[in-house]
Amino acid sequence: MSRGGSSGGRGGGTRRKTVRVKTARGRKPSSTRWLQRQLNDPFVEEARKLGYRSRAAFKLEELNEKFGFLKPGSRILDLGAAPGGWTQIAVAAVGEKGTVVALDIQEVEPVPGAVHLLGDIYDEDVIDRLLAALGGPADVVMSDMAAPSTGHAQTDHLRVMALIEAAYDVAQNLLAPGGVFVAKVLQGGTERELLETLKRDFVKVSHAKPAASRAGSREMYLVAESFRRDTGDGG
Ligand SMILES: C[S@@+](CC[C@H](N)C(=O)[O-])C[C@H]1O[C@@H](n2cnc3c(N)ncnc32)[C@H](O)[C@@H]1O
Repeated sequence: MSRGGSSGGRGGGTRRKTVRVKTARGRKPSSTRWLQRQLNDPFVEEARKLGYRSRAAFKLEELNEKFGFLKPGSRILDLGAAPGGWTQIAVAAVGEKGTVVALDIQEVEPVPGAVHLLGDIYDEDVIDRLLAALGGPADVVMSDMAAPSTGHAQTDHLRVMALIEAAYDVAQNLLAPGGVFVAKVLQGGTERELLETLKRDFVKVSHAKPAASRAGSREMYLVAESFRRDTGDGG
């Protein structure tokens, strides 16, 4: 499944020369840093070579290598899908008999084989729209949703937590028994209450930081396996 060897080795082998980006008039220092990082990032180069829409694709690829939740024929919900890297990986993994529904507040150039929905996770009718597009309960609900940083750590933290909770609300409604919930979280930041809920609702809850997740960032991923669906029949 892994293309180009283990993710730790991506872009490795021959040592590449570091590209230095000079400051330019009108370009903010943060943009210069971003550009320098992009130009020197082996995952960005590898993504371009493989035709992936984002370096984030490697994060999902690695999570799937470790936990094996993307199976042929399954129904996958991809929340916060733009520009579509995770969607590409999911479509390839589920094959023709599978279904991938991708939601984002931003327009996405359609990924062949996926159903794209333009909408906000907070929209009132989002669950109905997602269910209609899936055509049945989801085997995997995955969220890579992120809000643009405000620069205020506490506000950013609250916004990330709100997105995870909204994603889990969708997962609770749409996951099939035995289903898997995958979400981007902040290191040391999965709120105790949510973690307890997840431990109650799933057989196993793990955290992982894929190699493509920038070392300096607090981002990591939560993988909750084997959803214990409450059938409401008391059994
Ligand atoms: C890090 S990007 C996802 C990258 C994607 N997984 C990929 O591989 O290309 C996060 C996405 O979350 C989306 N997002 C943020 N808030 C959202 C919301 N309230 N509802 C739906 N999508 C949202 C953003 O528009 C953005 O496209």
